[in-house]
Amino acid sequence: MPAEFPPVEAPRLALRVLMMPRDTNHQGTIFGGIILAHIDQAGYIEARHHGLHRWVTASIDRVDFKAPVNVGEVVEFQTRTIRLGRSSVTVQVVVDAERVDGNWARVTEAQLTMVSVDAQGKSIPFREHGQREHAEKPA
Ligand SMILES: CC(C)(COP(=O)(O)OP(=O)(O)OC[C@H]1O[C@@H](n2cnc3c(N)ncnc32)[C@H](O)[C@@H]1OP(=O)(O)O)[C@@H](O)C(=O)NCCC(=O)NCCS
Repeated sequence: MPAEFPPVEAPRLALRVLMMPRDTNHQGTIFGGIILAHIDQAGYIEARHHGLHRWVTASIDRVDFKAPVNVGEVVEFQTRTIRLGRSSVTVQVVVDAERVDGNWARVTEAQLTMVSVDAQGKSIPFREHGQREHAEKPA
């Protein structure tokens, strides 16, 4: 039986980050590695919705940098689970920048695969191992 089924969840906000001067490259725009690091974090945050395991990034399958990001822009990382495997989940991340004039631009799209692992780093089925409920967030 295939251990996967179609996604049922809508995109959700994983991260919202203000881009700072320290995040720039030699051309003065935001360094792609900074965006990648946040994409990686967003993937982890999305994976945790499927279980409070240890999760590692197995692959960043594709990243499309569509438009530059600039200092002072607020960047949102929205995530959506697009595949649930045995020990892996595949996550789509879309990145939008709020320009300083208040307009929004889709700047990056990515897809990555996160794998649930045990304390030794061995992959484990995320539905069967170490499931803990997320606690209600206090008001
Ligand atoms: C991710 C990792 C645990 C996979 O180990 P493995 O021995 O290939 O594990 P398995 O063969 O049991 O595969 C486990 C799952 O990972 C998936 N997987 C493994 N490598 C993958 C890759 N490169 N891309 C996408 N999925 C991958 C498999 O398809 C499988 O999915 P499923 O269980 O949902 O069917 C291992 O490669 C690892 O520890 N990598 C380093 C992770 C890390 O440190 N990330 C941070 C980088 S700085």
